[in-house]
Amino acid sequence: MSATASPPALTADDIRARKGGDPVVSLTCYTTPMARVMDAHCDFVLVGDSVGMVLHGLPSTLGVTMEMMILHGQAVARGLSHALMVVDMPFASYEEGPQQAFRNAARLMAETGAGAVKLEGGRHMAETIGFLTARGIPVMAHIGLTPQSVNTLGGYRVQGRDDQAAAVLADAHAVSDAGAFAVVLEKIPASLADRITAEVPIPTIGIGASAGCDGQVLVVDDMLGLFAEFKPKFVKRYADLAQQAGAAISDYADEVRARRFPGPEHVFADQVKGPAK
Ligand code: KIV
Repeated sequence: MSATASPPALTADDIRARKGGDPVVSLTCYTTPMARVMDAHCDFVLVGDSVGMVLHGLPSTLGVTMEMMILHGQAVARGLSHALMVVDMPFASYEEGPQQAFRNAARLMAETGAGAVKLEGGRHMAETIGFLTARGIPVMAHIGLTPQSVNTLGGYRVQGRDDQAAAVLADAHAVSDAGAFAVVLEKIPASLADRITAEVPIPTIGIGASAGCDGQVLVVDDMLGLFAEFKPKFVKRYADLAQQAGAAISDYADEVRARRFPGPEHVFADQVKGPAK
């Protein structure tokens, strides 16, 4: 077992201390080059199990494995020197009970160098969150729309509307009381997110929640316009990289077919002019 990088500067405690302060900035991250780009701008990066859908073309996050999370976690760790790295626990790696969760969370931390793990679930995960935090594993909780439960939630729909609100509020209190250092609120009404943010003592990290949350997270490929299959309402596209990449690849294909690439500046002479290097 080996953590592949020295620990980044920010810790779970630093994120917890941001409650009610400057908004916490976060994005998902799956590769070393992207980690290098976002390290200076983000407080934490999430190696999300969305990697399965975004990079591996899976139809949901249910097929994501521990091995995938470890491989991507190790890659991301190599690109970070400032931001905290949080790694998602994949489906079926923690739901059996606290012992299974500890075994897999410890492996994720030891093999990637992550500073924390994230798991999905509210009241029914409270015991597991308490077990992990008592044993040295900082846990970020994730409530509201929990994509690993897509088959029991009836799809990727808004959670916590009307008479469901009390249940999501109870989940927020339960994960906070259990020792989570922060909680992701996904796809819930803004007024409910604001109420949770006001009531719980840990930072709320919104995705499809409210600008009033203590921080925000987005899937990086969504906000860069790289994952172009669909765009959830809560995503703002800050770039259209899929379109730009398509145009660049089309230019390349045209130039290869016309023998305009490679040009003289891209090929090597028989002899080196001047002093040999
Ligand atoms: O896996 C993921 O990308 C996530 C975010 C949507 C919070 O859990």
